[in-house]
Amino acid sequence: MVIAVKGFFRNERLVNADYLACYYDDRTARAPTDLLKQVGHTESGEAISIDMFDRLVEDIALRLDLSPGDDLLDLCCGNGVFTARLASRARSAFGVDFSAGLIDVARSQSSAPNTRFEVADVRRLPRLTPDGDGKFPKVMMYAALQHFPNDSLAPLLGDILALTTDDPVILIGFVPERSRRFAFYDSWPRRLTYLSRKLVGKDVMGSWWNRTDFERAGASHGLTCSFHPIAEGTRARDYRFDAVFRKRV
Ligand SMILES: C[S@@+](CC[C@H](N)C(=O)[O-])C[C@H]1O[C@@H](n2cnc3c(N)ncnc32)[C@H](O)[C@@H]1O
Repeated sequence: MVIAVKGFFRNERLVNADYLACYYDDRTARAPTDLLKQVGHTESGEAISIDMFDRLVEDIALRLDLSPGDDLLDLCCGNGVFTARLASRARSAFGVDFSAGLIDVARSQSSAPNTRFEVADVRRLPRLTPDGDGKFPKVMMYAALQHFPNDSLAPLLGDILALTTDDPVILIGFVPERSRRFAFYDSWPRRLTYLSRKLVGKDVMGSWWNRTDFERAGASHGLTCSFHPIAEGTRARDYRFDAVFRKRV
């Protein structure tokens, strides 16, 4: 019985890709001009403030050690709201997402001379290059790992490493932490909603993660992993973390 209950919490039943695409299309239709709301960067149903957004952007740039000579790959980039801001601090930024609707928004509202956006499924990453034949020194996947099952991180890192330079920095950011999930579901009504949606496989928060999942996945590729808190003043700080992978020296 105890094992069954543990298994229920351990193995997240993720919503399927079609449901997810509809979910983001619906968000985009409801908030056609609010890029942050479209991709769920909200608190109490409203888009996070510009000041908070700026702090998240600063943290991403810091964690990636982003510099003007860098080519950045942004996996699951959504509408490119972060990609565009980070592109101004890099040589180029390439964003991919499997939502054609969000990539349309990215192309129309987040593009710059040094950005590129393509539709791609990160579970089957195609060969992506910053230019004709190069590799990416910096890769990020922000606020998206919850859409991937818990056993997918090691294979994902392997796929990413095939696209990177020898000494990359890989940020997997804004990850929901399993041990703190009841800080997100912080009232009994919210907990009951969580449990009932989980039963039918429609918990849009998706999978929750342990830091040991990261350490193990990194070690299997000779990567070290460091963990970082989300910016002060954000609600996400209570239940999410950033993780940075680098080659073990
Ligand atoms: C919460 S949004 C975050 C978007 C963006 N990274 C940001 O922080 O603004 C999650 C994104 O992951 C994308 N996504 C989920 N699974 C994906 C997959 N297998 N391949 C590509 N994109 C995916 C969704 O379409 C969505 O745009």
